[in-house]
Amino acid sequence: MAEFTLPKNSKIAKGRAHKGDGGKRPKTFKVYRYDPDSGANPRYDTYTIDLDKTGPMVLDAIIKIKNEIDPTLTFRRSCREGICGSCAMNMNGKNGLACTTAIEDCAGEVRITPLPHMEVVKDLVPDMTHFYAQYASIQPWLKSSTPEPSGKERFQSPEDRAKLDGLYECILCACCSTSCPSYWWNSDKFLGPAILLQAYRWLVDSRDEATGERLDQLEDPFRLYRCHTIMNCANVCPKGLNPAKAIAETKKLVAERAA
Ligand code: SF4
Ligand code: SF4
Ligand code: FES
Repeated sequence: MAEFTLPKNSKIAKGRAHKGDGGKRPKTFKVYRYDPDSGANPRYDTYTIDLDKTGPMVLDAIIKIKNEIDPTLTFRRSCREGICGSCAMNMNGKNGLACTTAIEDCAGEVRITPLPHMEVVKDLVPDMTHFYAQYASIQPWLKSSTPEPSGKERFQSPEDRAKLDGLYECILCACCSTSCPSYWWNSDKFLGPAILLQAYRWLVDSRDEATGERLDQLEDPFRLYRCHTIMNCANVCPKGLNPAKAIAETKKLVAERAA
């Protein structure tokens, strides 16, 4: 029987309990801490803060912890509006954006980890290098050999423009891909829901003339066909998108051209 041993540095060490500001409405956050450069094992540190002195979102709590309790805590954020996608993390077992996740919607102690199944750069910061390389691989730009009408935009009918709804809103936060079991096991080859949704966005753009070339690139047992309609992607998308549907539509396009 095969025996698997996890590497020694994967064992969770005892975390530190940091003194917060207590108060009348204390809430405890258990936050994943890991610095690969230090050689130390990962741990969960706990921080108890007063919700009366904290903004309403999980990101507000994390910023407060960094500003007032522990400046070593590392995370990404930028817009605080659910637009940049950089604060994606896992909160109480579900991927989401910390800036649009209300603390009051997180029951009990709030356990925060980086996006699952990604290499960790530090604490809550995952390494997105491979994800972005996969995005680049689908050539996410308009491809057309027809010259642009001089001095004019490439127009679309309202109907053609509407086909991009539910796709263009994607902020590439990776919440979906990192919640997808197929992506966990095959992320070296499977493009995953986020990148496949983006690929479909270009397939249905009426101005794009590279549909055949794009489908050739996707028609592969791993790149496209590792999706088994588990639907975790649609369940977690903070923008309410449905990558599984985009994947199914792409499979349909491949099947139609073979018929
Ligand atoms: S589809 Fe949704 S969850 Fe996936 S990357 Fe785009 S915005 Fe994020
Ligand atoms: S529906 Fe497909 S892409 Fe979405 S989580 Fe499931 S396997 Fe992954
Ligand atoms: S900080 Fe930009 S999406 Fe959360």
